Amino acid sequence: MKKRHYKELGLVNTKAMFAQALKEQFAVPAYNFNNMEQLQAIVTGCARSASPLILQVSGSARKYIGASFLPHMAKAAVEFSAELGTPLPIALHLDHGGSVELAKECIDSGFSSVMIDASHEPFQENIRITKEVVAYAREHDVSVEAELGVLAGIEDEVSAEHSTYTQPQEVEEFLQATGVDSLAISIGTSHGAYKFKLKPGEEPPPLRFDILEEIERLVPGFPIVLHGASSVLPKYVEMINQYGGKMENTAGIPEEQLRRATASAVCKVNIDSDGRLAMTAVIRRVFAEKPGEFDPRKYLGPAREALIELIMHKNSEVLGSAGRVR
Ligand code: G3H
Ligand code: 13P
Ligand code: ZN
Repeated sequence: MKKRHYKELGLVNTKAMFAQALKEQFAVPAYNFNNMEQLQAIVTGCARSASPLILQVSGSARKYIGASFLPHMAKAAVEFSAELGTPLPIALHLDHGGSVELAKECIDSGFSSVMIDASHEPFQENIRITKEVVAYAREHDVSVEAELGVLAGIEDEVSAEHSTYTQPQEVEEFLQATGVDSLAISIGTSHGAYKFKLKPGEEPPPLRFDILEEIERLVPGFPIVLHGASSVLPKYVEMINQYGGKMENTAGIPEEQLRRATASAVCKVNIDSDGRLAMTAVIRRVFAEKPGEFDPRKYLGPAREALIELIMHKNSEVLGSAGRVR
């Protein structure tokens, strides 16, 4: 694959974004994408709300899209935001990088930020693997995110039945030993659309703000990342079920919990499932209302509109990132 540095693509790393997010107490959105319509919607939603943006792809999303498409898609995203009238700072980030080789490949092909996720490994092994990525990333001025603690749900090809909360006392040693730029922690969020098993009428358990506060006390001003932060909005789940889908017992992170988290050292919030749900709901509605429709633009177009609306809502009402590009 052709080697490219992210600066050639007009991308930025996450350093300045996180510094601003920490100072102004908001979180930068990290939206996952797998296809062109999702990318267009994310960029449009962020340009319309003047929000900095981290575009992220998992290893499997990169395979699905095709690695050689990605640098061009990211460059197009930068140009597109300028055409929309709000040139955005955009980072291209590897989500849940599963190996040192994958992280290096992404750095070589134009990513400005990578996550190395060795959180399922023992502590010292997590440090060893993460350090290797940091050393390579430094040579290219690329940001590195790592993870301590395990979230329940699917993390790319790694799936965890139960979560293990981050142990605050491990954080300082990990940061000093690895030199990462940000750290994903486990405080009760979870991946996917089925985050908690709830009885009817039951509320999801609150996030463990005590753990977050302890981490902030031990490493003040260090950028923290929240994965698994979709709210699984009932509006879209109900629409999916209304139009022939079957999603039962879904549950997400309440928006007010996320708002509270973004006012802390949390400066990157990962959202994938909510976008998937919004697009799927609208596509189902189009097919139910117009069973003869077979032009992809007629169902992907409305799905893209719904995703734009969702992104704008997240930026302004949940993350506080709207209006931060000045
Ligand atoms: O945390 C995982 C992300 O939602 C990406 O999921 O591996 O299905 O692309 P994926
Ligand atoms: P959700 O499944 O809650 O959207 O989380 C996405 C995520 O953490 C991507 O890394
Ligand atoms: Zn994640």
